[in-house]
Amino acid sequence: MTTTETRSVLLRTAIPGPRSQELLARREAAVAAGLGRATPIAVAEAHGAIVTDVDGNRLLDFVSGIGTLAVGHCPPEVSAAIQAQAERMIHFSALVGTYEPYVALCERLNGAVPISGPCKTLLANSGAEAVENAIKIARAATGRPAILVFEGAYHGRTLLTLTLTSRTFFKKRFGPFAPEVYRAPFPYAYRMGVSEEQATEQCWAAFERMLVAGVDPDTIAAVLIEPVQGEGGFIPVPAEFMRRLRGFCDRNGSLLIADEVQSGFGRTGTLFAIEQTGVEPDLIVSAKSLAAGMPLAATIGRATAMDAAHYGGVGGTYGGNPLACVAALATLDIIERDQLPTRARAIGAQIRARLAPLLDAEGPGPLVGDIRGLGAMLALEFVTDRNSRTPAPAQSVLDILSRALQHGLIVMRAGLYANCIRLLVPLVISDEQLDEGLEILIDAIRG
Ligand SMILES: Cc1ncc(COP(=O)(O)O)c(C=O)c1O
Repeated sequence: MTTTETRSVLLRTAIPGPRSQELLARREAAVAAGLGRATPIAVAEAHGAIVTDVDGNRLLDFVSGIGTLAVGHCPPEVSAAIQAQAERMIHFSALVGTYEPYVALCERLNGAVPISGPCKTLLANSGAEAVENAIKIARAATGRPAILVFEGAYHGRTLLTLTLTSRTFFKKRFGPFAPEVYRAPFPYAYRMGVSEEQATEQCWAAFERMLVAGVDPDTIAAVLIEPVQGEGGFIPVPAEFMRRLRGFCDRNGSLLIADEVQSGFGRTGTLFAIEQTGVEPDLIVSAKSLAAGMPLAATIGRATAMDAAHYGGVGGTYGGNPLACVAALATLDIIERDQLPTRARAIGAQIRARLAPLLDAEGPGPLVGDIRGLGAMLALEFVTDRNSRTPAPAQSVLDILSRALQHGLIVMRAGLYANCIRLLVPLVISDEQLDEGLEILIDAIRG
């Protein structure tokens, strides 16, 4: 329990306060309207798990830049590394020449991924760009065009990755989309209303049917999957389903690509979530918590595949910028030093213990139907009725988020039906801060 003196949240105005509203009005006038925003707050600074807005309100951050800040906001080691590098060289471009932080980071990532045998890495600016690189590399390595993805998947918003992304809400009026992308059902046991084993069997049958009725397996370059579906609602892939995908890829000569953009770098209790299935992918795509908020992403994988793209065929002006690379090296040091994957498990256990009673609690608002995820990558799914599992209206979940924000907690939703709340706390959060935030969340859910 937190006392008034030890509380992290400190509210001086209603949320959003007058200065936030002013900046919000400027944003609306100056910024393209299609850029969504989960909250109306305007932030001035952030440290650890605490964000201070422009009105001087202190809030707890359970979003972490959408899973970017496993090491929290502004870790001093990362800020110092960026500052020191900024005084030496801000940019050069790896397309022009070589600088040590780029190479050092690739060496480190090659050794960190759960892939046996020699690995190589290519750096980029965003998760979407790194997914695109993985697809290009898979096509070059196999000489095949088709990519198999899943319902509920989120892989980004560039036109190829938007094609790979599932939820139609993101796609409105942006077509036509890229060809040779095929979508299979995802073992979303809760929404299918069956056990994980049954979901695996049913989705595997659908997968095999697709190979006969949907796409010629001889044309499949890669199967692309999030080991824990992120935007789709924090649904871990059952280990048996992942093993079957591995078996298919081995038999078929296709690559298995794990999109760990949201699940990577300790959040799920291991450095990469796929480790917990015992399956080795061929390529891993990562970003977000890799560099504590600096724009950086990596495609990492078997050297034979990674070397398949022709010379000059991949890369970009900024990919692997020196500031981002030193930030990532410092971030990886913190993740190792502070054993953040282990901490993620403890955080996950604390969250589950606090939220479990909600699974039996009655309204007035939407009901918590499921609490799921891996480690500290956890979500609550809201329904109107626990038997039918009918998704709660998106607005009812927005109302909960809004109540939480009014009391100083930043949280965000997820899910194919926008009926989930995802928790992505910084892994450096203290037990007291976590408890304080969960208390606010529980009150907001109770209405
Ligand atoms: C699993 C996954 N892949 C790819 C992306 C796209 O990353 P970015 O927003 O950096 O382009 C995201 C972003 O949320 C993601 O969660």
